[in-house]
Amino acid sequence: APLQQANSFGIAARALTLVRVASEDDVRAAIARFDLARAPFFVLGGGSNIVLTGDVKPLVLKMEIAGLRLVDETPRAWIIEAGAGEVWHRLVAWSLAQGWPGLENLALIPGTVGAAPVQNIGAYGVELQDRFHSLTAIDGLTGEGFELDAAQCAFGYRDSVFKHAAPVAPEGAAWRRGMGLAGRAIITRVRLALPKAWRPVIDYLDLQKKCEETGVPQPDAQQIFDWVCAIRGAKLPDPAVLGNAGSFFKNPTVTPEQCRDIIAREPRIVHYPMPDGSIKLAAGWLIDACGWRGKSVGRAGVYEKQALVLVNRGNRADPEASVTGGEVMTLARAIQTSVYERFGIRLQPEPVVV
Ligand code: EPU
Repeated sequence: APLQQANSFGIAARALTLVRVASEDDVRAAIARFDLARAPFFVLGGGSNIVLTGDVKPLVLKMEIAGLRLVDETPRAWIIEAGAGEVWHRLVAWSLAQGWPGLENLALIPGTVGAAPVQNIGAYGVELQDRFHSLTAIDGLTGEGFELDAAQCAFGYRDSVFKHAAPVAPEGAAWRRGMGLAGRAIITRVRLALPKAWRPVIDYLDLQKKCEETGVPQPDAQQIFDWVCAIRGAKLPDPAVLGNAGSFFKNPTVTPEQCRDIIAREPRIVHYPMPDGSIKLAAGWLIDACGWRGKSVGRAGVYEKQALVLVNRGNRADPEASVTGGEVMTLARAIQTSVYERFGIRLQPEPVVV
């Protein structure tokens, strides 16, 4: 099956076998039919955070479980549930329309609901983990269903238990022992807790600027939603027009000592202190400072308006003329090398390289 339209980079790879799953029963049927306990598999959501470096040999499970509903209401929060195959932005817009704010800062993040916990999506001061309640998943090795709360998901910056290697032996439910679940868990439904005591999160510089420009110091959730959509629209390429996978590198963190050394050499470096005492550096700034913004290597390019985003300069609709995963990774390595040579910092890719 062709995957070019199924990944936001528009890379023209193929899946040897692709199975669409629209229910938990479909997932269990696929596990039995393709004997997933023995054969590796890959769950594909919106394809907005992957780089395909070749044809995908593992069975591809295309996640299409739908559904948006309120499952519980407590004195403190509305608990909503979404199928893993729902488009994330649709969930954000729907929850706001129902009168349950809390996801507005996460508007317009590409991808599906099931992918959101994997990398703990975040933007403009809110991360998925701030609103997360629990999720339901199926163990691809055994077909057993299970539920995880936030602590069990082990969320970190663009990180979770779903990114860490899982034991391949079917025995001994990995999730009960706090082990990695990559290549093993199939997330089917995600529940979020939207606090009734809502307060706007507007500490981010981009949102502060909007408050000042518009003279609205206390925006409501709809206002923040509109601002975030406008900011993202101005800075990030629309993957339907220009293929990309969002931020291509994580923002690196350094110790205060390392940061002092770097500031001594690069006084203008963009950096933010973290709650744990470490310092987060803006990877986009580092890449920009190395002169990469707007540059290309083959058909892979660095976006003009945001150096952290790598884009497809080929034709994302044409299998012959599109960027390849190899070209993207060649550009990524060239960027890593120059950032390392200039700053001594190793940038880590953010999307999953398949
Ligand atoms: N900057 C430059 N040059 C550039 C790009 C950025 O100098 O080419 C500077 C900016 O001026 C700014 C700083 O770097 O001072 C940070 O840039 P920005 O505020 O745009 O945010 P970011 O760190 O690049 C992160 C997330 C985004 C998220 C935004 C908004 C990561 C890796 N990226 O980007 O998430 O939308 O903050 O919260 O954490 C994603 O993960 O795919 C993603 C898009």
